[in-house]
Order: sequence, then structure tokens, then C-alpha cells
Amino acid sequence: MEVIVTPDRGSAARIAAKIVASLLARNPSGVLGFATGSTPVPLYQELIRMHREEGLDFSRVTTFNLDEYVGLAPEHRCSYHSFMRENLFNHVNVAPQRIHIPDGLTDDIETFCQSYDQQIRDAGGIDLQILGIGNNGHIGFNEPSSSLASRTRIKTLSAQTLRDNARFFGSEENVPKHVITMGVGTILESRRCILMAFGESKAVAVAQMVEGPVSSMVPASALQLHSKVHVIIDEAAASQLTRLDYYKWVYENKPR
Ligand code: PGA
Repeated sequence: MEVIVTPDRGSAARIAAKIVASLLARNPSGVLGFATGSTPVPLYQELIRMHREEGLDFSRVTTFNLDEYVGLAPEHRCSYHSFMRENLFNHVNVAPQRIHIPDGLTDDIETFCQSYDQQIRDAGGIDLQILGIGNNGHIGFNEPSSSLASRTRIKTLSAQTLRDNARFFGSEENVPKHVITMGVGTILESRRCILMAFGESKAVAVAQMVEGPVSSMVPASALQLHSKVHVIIDEAAASQLTRLDYYKWVYENKPR
């Protein structure tokens, strides 16, 4: 893992956006995996700025989102379909027919999940997956004890995630308990990952992810088995890392 510690979210977003832009410069038809939640918002703002001011072109890109709540229609204000429209898709030129977000209203979840993984394969696999991390170490909605080989499927949210996400729904009781999420195994198949984390509440999960052990109790720790992961975090999220000085030294001395 490459651990990049930045002074603030804006700097993290600019580093992550440059990785996205350089992928699209090499391959304008790249396949991007997107995440929701508070963490990727500064990245999406930077991508929108680059689209408007620098001509960053999404017209040939295909996208796959990590997850969606079961039972929420795409129009629901708390759905991840709405989140992606508001925070990115309404502001850049991604072709609507190449946007994929799990269908929270499907009446055959198992078949839908299999076909979602198949659509990722048919698109040639995900070139770059954007990730956040839960306070409990989840990636996507793969809660602790998720199989590290898991595929896209239905999951039941943990009590902590229901509490963490209550802020979007007004109260904990309104948060749907079930989600469709890419599996840990699905995420590990992407060719490159960027995981961002900000704030002290993520510090323990970040330390467990980076410094191990690899365990299904911290699903993000499975990223240690992936060969190309950029962990882009602020000082607060980095504060529990025991080898922090080493990661900073490595980044400062990165071969150009
Ligand atoms: P957050 O969520 O970005 O809203 O903190 C991250 C996650 O749960 O993966």
C-alpha cells in the first residue's frame, strides 16, 4: 500500500483526482468504480472543476458504484443514485447508459447481484476503484466478518453503520437495514484502488487496515493483498499508524 498523508481534504482530493485524470489520459474509455458517503465529495468536486476548467472528459467512461440501499427508489433523496447525480453525474459528461449503480428495488436480488458482477466483467473489469472506509473497517458495505472472497450480494448493516448513517436519514430508525454491495472479492479484482479517509474517527480503522493483520473482522485489511492501493488520508486519520514517519519518508522520496 502507498500511504499518502495530506494536510487537508482538498490536497487529498487533488492527488486522487490527478490519478483519475492520468488514467483517463491513458485510457479515455476507462472503467471507474465510485463510492458514496462524505469522504469522496471533495474528490468529486475536484473532478467537476477539472471537467469544467481543464476539459477532463468522461464521455467514454463506464462507471460502477459500490452499493445501494435495498428498498430505496433511485429518486429517493437518500438513495446513492440521488447522491451520485447530485455530487457528480449531473455536473460531468458521463453517458447515462454507462452508469451502473445497484438497483435497490430489484425483486430478484440474487440474480441482480450475479448480473452486476457479470456486467463489471463484460466492461473489462474496474480500472480504478474509489473507496472510503467505515469507522468499523468496512469497505463498500462489507461489514466486519464479511468473507474476504465475497461477491456482490445483499448484506445486513451493523448497528454502528446504522448509527453512522443516521445523519443522512434524520434518524437511525429510517436507515434501511439491508444493502446491495460489491463484495470484498469484487473490489480486490479492480486494477487499482484509491482509499481516502479523513478525521480522527477513522484513525483506528485506518491503522488496522494498513498495519494488519489481514482479517475479515476488518474487511479493508484485505487491501493488503492488492498490489496497487493508494491510501490518501489526513493527519487525523493517520494518527494511529505506528510507522507514520516511514510512510511520509517513502512518499517524500518517491522516485519521480
Ligand atoms: P463516510 O463513509 O465517507 O461517510 O465517512 C465511509 C464509508 O462508510 O465507507
